Amino acid sequence: MLPQDFRSSLSQLVKSISVAIKLISPAMGRHHDQVAYIAFRLAEHLGYSEEQIIKITLAAFLHDIGAVSLEENLDQLRFEKDNVHIHAELGALFLGAFAPFRSLAPIIKHHHQRWNYGEGACINHESVPAESHLIHLADRAAVLINNQTNILIHKQNLRERISQQKGKVFSPEHVAAFMDISSKDYFWLDCASNGVYEVLEGLFKWESVLIGSEALLDFSRFLSRIVDFRSPLNANHSSGVAASSAALARIAGFKPEECTMMLMGGYLHDIGKLVVPVAILEKDTALDQNERSIIKAHAYYTHHILTVIPEFQQINQWASHHHERLDGKGYPFALDEKDLTPGAQLMAVADIYTALNEDRPYRKAMSRQQSTSVLHEMVKERALNNEYVGLLEKNFDEIDYFRCEAQRISNEEYHNMNPLFMGKCQKESKDT
Ligand SMILES: [Fe+2]
Ligand SMILES: [Fe+2]
Ligand SMILES: [Fe+2]
Repeated sequence: MLPQDFRSSLSQLVKSISVAIKLISPAMGRHHDQVAYIAFRLAEHLGYSEEQIIKITLAAFLHDIGAVSLEENLDQLRFEKDNVHIHAELGALFLGAFAPFRSLAPIIKHHHQRWNYGEGACINHESVPAESHLIHLADRAAVLINNQTNILIHKQNLRERISQQKGKVFSPEHVAAFMDISSKDYFWLDCASNGVYEVLEGLFKWESVLIGSEALLDFSRFLSRIVDFRSPLNANHSSGVAASSAALARIAGFKPEECTMMLMGGYLHDIGKLVVPVAILEKDTALDQNERSIIKAHAYYTHHILTVIPEFQQINQWASHHHERLDGKGYPFALDEKDLTPGAQLMAVADIYTALNEDRPYRKAMSRQQSTSVLHEMVKERALNNEYVGLLEKNFDEIDYFRCEAQRISNEEYHNMNPLFMGKCQKESKDT
């Protein structure tokens, strides 16, 4: 249970995703901003209600999110050319699991659907939302914009290219709206501007959409899936840390709302790993100095991404200090015992306990005895809190039960989505 007043706005949550995506791939972040801007202008011009405009713009802001777990090099936007429906379907699956974004899932699922002279309104007996077709047009227009050229010289050519696809690729109604809004210079200058996000932020009234405490927990779980599902070897780590840190917090006497916050912190503690290439995360041999420094930065990026949500201040501290040590030799802030909150010290114990008890790319899961003795070693060298390690050992069966159960569930979810990840693997092996 969280306090009733623990809530945030949808805009802050989307902003945190946008910050994360820009850290992973500035090109993809820019693409999302441009598509959101064009979709917003189209929806506004077509007379959609304020609520529908919010929905369309949010869907556009997030429309390629499935690619984050699929593709390594997002900067090329390769997922927009090859086998395009995989990232769309995966994005819909991720968003469908988070209630405030659930209504966006069908829009995103079909955002590459061609109009095909009206036949694209329904695919395999499933109706395709008009908003998907609208975002499809916005997406293609954004892809055509070459950020290196003078947009006002090229705008006529871009308009013609969209217009030529009327009926076949895009709905005639959407093309007509696009031709109207794109006849003006400011539209293109906004699109091509480095500040397109800020332009849209000034136009868009989404602050009113508030997210309650339960949905915030769902949001944390939703983000953890996107991070973890990038790699089958990490597919259930965050859920294990979430479950074990919350169980340990309860045993250690944290208040119920603090235990829920700990659960959220566990889901989010490694969100900064979005910035780490999968090849490094999955490497089964020793990391070199460069790779180690890239991995180490993930705790800093967790902090950076969560700072966008002011209500997560406490959670952010617990989550992003999970690699700090009592002796001050941890990272990224090198805080020592007196500056580390009990929550952060507890999260560090739960993270290491979970990591030791699960298979890693470079070793199999340790036995209970082995992992406990590593934890005690770390207490001796003043890395971890003695009291929390003691409580963990004393209540090992109970905490381990919650961890295993949570990891079993996220493993199941990962395997349910597996056909999509397999599609990616086959595609990649064909390409190479
Ligand atoms: Fe796409
Ligand atoms: Fe796209
Ligand atoms: Fe970590």
